[in-house]
Amino acid sequence: MQINKYIYSFSYENPESELCKLESRYIFNKEEKNRLLFSDIKAEPSNSPFIKSRLDVISFSEDYDTLIKDIKKESICIEGFKVEYLVLDGDITEYKERLNKLKDIGWSIEGIPDYYNPTITYGLCYFEGIWCFGVLNKDSFTWHKHKKKPRSYSNSISISIAKALVNIAAKANKESKLLDVCCGVGTIMLEACFSGNNIEGCDINEKICNNAQENISHFNYTANVYHSDIKNISKKYDAAIIDLPYNLFSNATDNDILHIIESTAAITDRIVIVSISDITNLISNTGFRISDYCTVSKSGKRKFTRKIWVCEKVK
Ligand SMILES: C[S@@+](CC[C@H](N)C(=O)[O-])C[C@H]1O[C@@H](n2cnc3c(N)ncnc32)[C@H](O)[C@@H]1O
Repeated sequence: MQINKYIYSFSYENPESELCKLESRYIFNKEEKNRLLFSDIKAEPSNSPFIKSRLDVISFSEDYDTLIKDIKKESICIEGFKVEYLVLDGDITEYKERLNKLKDIGWSIEGIPDYYNPTITYGLCYFEGIWCFGVLNKDSFTWHKHKKKPRSYSNSISISIAKALVNIAAKANKESKLLDVCCGVGTIMLEACFSGNNIEGCDINEKICNNAQENISHFNYTANVYHSDIKNISKKYDAAIIDLPYNLFSNATDNDILHIIESTAAITDRIVIVSISDITNLISNTGFRISDYCTVSKSGKRKFTRKIWVCEKVK
């Protein structure tokens, strides 16, 4: 019996399901299933909009009593610990039994627990016949502070989509040099800065560029924002994200869109494109191959669906 090092649980609304799966393909090289994923790849829950928690597995067993013995053998001695039960897909353990099991674990750890301000949180879960115990790392939600950025913009995407785009573009590589091509007020840049990714931005509108810079400085991040048409950027990047001007709010023509994508093609081989209109045909005229795709909409707002294309340069 073998189990992965990490058990991830996910949280998302149904309209976000495709985006969550797209993101997990680029972080873990596989999709989450039933809001669960097992992997040896370590990812920070707070760096993804969808990862709720990561259990770093310490002990596991098909037999619950053996698990408790194994936990005791670990001789864990720590003050202020907490233990939580993770109810995973298919676990029918009743509430009372779950509480008893948490007590068993509590008695197997030396130290006084602290439920309200724990120094460390452990987790217990059951999945497909196996009991797992480990350290539980939860999404801190500190990135939600970006919702209160000083400068906002009616055309901005949500911070959840922005976060996923960064992961899809960077493919979990923090060294990857990213460009936010139409950065607007920097929604994507803020999420990249939060998770320690290497990003720069550019926008044709000077006032909006200043707003992006103000937002970035407000949260004490550092990142270059270039006031420029993308055609004048010559620096090379590993990947670019383009949140295209939307037909709904701007009068960008097919030629403008083509100009943005073709100019980006000169400085990178990989682009993640976001648009509300179907620009599949335009993309195929720019020397890029669409390697992945998804749509995302807000609950109750199915008419406002964003399309996301992952494109690789045809060599
Ligand atoms: C949909 S908005 C981007 C919103 C941004 N993601 C945010 O969250 O604030 C599109 C942006 O593209 C910029 N833009 C349009 N044409 C451009 C070009 N040729 N080069 C660079 N930026 C351009 C616009 O000024 C606008 O801010």
